[in-house]
Amino acid sequence: MTVTPLTQLLEKYDVPVPRYTSYPAVPNWQSTPEPDAWVAALRAALTAPDSSLAVYVHLPFCESLCTFCGCNNVITRNHERAAPYVDTVLAELDLYLARVPVLAERPVSQIHLGGGTPTFLPPEVLGRLLGGLRERLPRLATDYEGSVEVDPRVTTAPHLEVMRQHGLSRISLGVQDIDPEVLRLVNRNQPLETTAALCARARAAGFDSINFDLIYGLPAQTPESMVRLSEAVIRLRPDRLAVYGFARVPWIKPAQRKFTDEQVPAGAAKRELYEILRDRLLSAGYLEIGLDHFALPHDALAVAAAERTLHRNFMGYAERQTTALLGLGVSAISETPGCYHQNEKVVTVYERRIAAGEIATLRGHVLSDDDRRRAGLIRSLMTVGEASPTPAERADAAAELQALVRDGIVEAGEHEVRVTPAGKPFIRNVAALFDRYLRESPPQGPTYSRAI
Ligand SMILES: C[S@@+](CC[C@H](N)C(=O)[O-])C[C@H]1O[C@@H](n2cnc3c(N)ncnc32)[C@H](O)[C@@H]1O
Ligand code: SF4
Repeated sequence: MTVTPLTQLLEKYDVPVPRYTSYPAVPNWQSTPEPDAWVAALRAALTAPDSSLAVYVHLPFCESLCTFCGCNNVITRNHERAAPYVDTVLAELDLYLARVPVLAERPVSQIHLGGGTPTFLPPEVLGRLLGGLRERLPRLATDYEGSVEVDPRVTTAPHLEVMRQHGLSRISLGVQDIDPEVLRLVNRNQPLETTAALCARARAAGFDSINFDLIYGLPAQTPESMVRLSEAVIRLRPDRLAVYGFARVPWIKPAQRKFTDEQVPAGAAKRELYEILRDRLLSAGYLEIGLDHFALPHDALAVAAAERTLHRNFMGYAERQTTALLGLGVSAISETPGCYHQNEKVVTVYERRIAAGEIATLRGHVLSDDDRRRAGLIRSLMTVGEASPTPAERADAAAELQALVRDGIVEAGEHEVRVTPAGKPFIRNVAALFDRYLRESPPQGPTYSRAI
């Protein structure tokens, strides 16, 4: 076999593909359920006596816009918006509890606060949200995993205190980069000292897992700046890191138009930035997990990866599998084995619909048997790097599969396909082979960020 140089592979496979936090990917959702049908799907998922629940709450507010940001956020300095929003989220949970009473009976093994910036909420409002969730969900497991995404620039000691009081034990700090020029270009003034101070305070407050979010591929990042970033984060030694490739989607996020193609590393140059971080993290004792995560060996994510029980859902990689994920708040996504559901994306509309006693459905997808099979297959590729397609799925993808085998990205056995260690950068391309929607109706306009 001739070995294709990595730079050529990076060029060849740097095509737009989904990130596969769900299959079908959101742009391919076709059959939005009526709110009653969605509620019935949730009820059905939770009827099995051994079912369990994860809850995600989306808190969209941020004080300023980081121009790379791809999240669903609302930029405002008006903190008075927080309390009515929290009231709406709790009212939304009440709507669900009235329609799906079994929700209160099922163990809740995970609560995740995401955003936006959850610590935009004043500490007392955050406390009201967490207290309200705990009051309404009495079966919160005693060892539930409570996690939160925070922006270190707005996170205070009283925030940490209230989150610990309510049992949150995992905290994820948005770091992104530490280079002053990169941070200036992305409008995020966050000196390393701010991150270091919060990290120390979070440890002292008793958070048992600290994650840093980093991004590679931002404007003005260079190999030298990535070496400095690696050294700085290794000194702070978070338990985990999410190292995201900059998802450039200017057709959805116009603020990203500020960056020119020349400013933004792409293809092999972008991958090199990741490799610099990766090499140093591995040397410092971190393990690489899935597509874009690292964890110290003691961390639950590393343990799940070693035991091959890693899971992937809308929140990314998770160490616990739950039957249903209930998303509360504007734009929040929910998931059951048979149905996906997303809430209305505009805060005022979301608030109005909940006040009117409605489930605030924006869109969703009822999974067919074929969807469910392929969702399992793609999840398996994204978590353990192997899967067993049916003969028909394999036949559909035969030509591309052969090319991936020739390029050393995949090994194909009689029944299974396995991503090779060298093939890891291309795991989204491998998953895409089995995406029926992408195969049968390729997107007409720009839809997904690039694979590399
Ligand atoms: C909700 S935000 C994190 C919390 C908080 N708002 C902050 O910025 O510190 C979740 C993470 O998504 C990542 N992210 C946002 N936009 C991205 C993009 N366009 N490409 C890749 N990662 C992105 C960032 O790493 C960010 O920390
Ligand atoms: S990265 Fe975080 S703080 Fe910045 S705009 Fe996005 S959600 Fe808000």
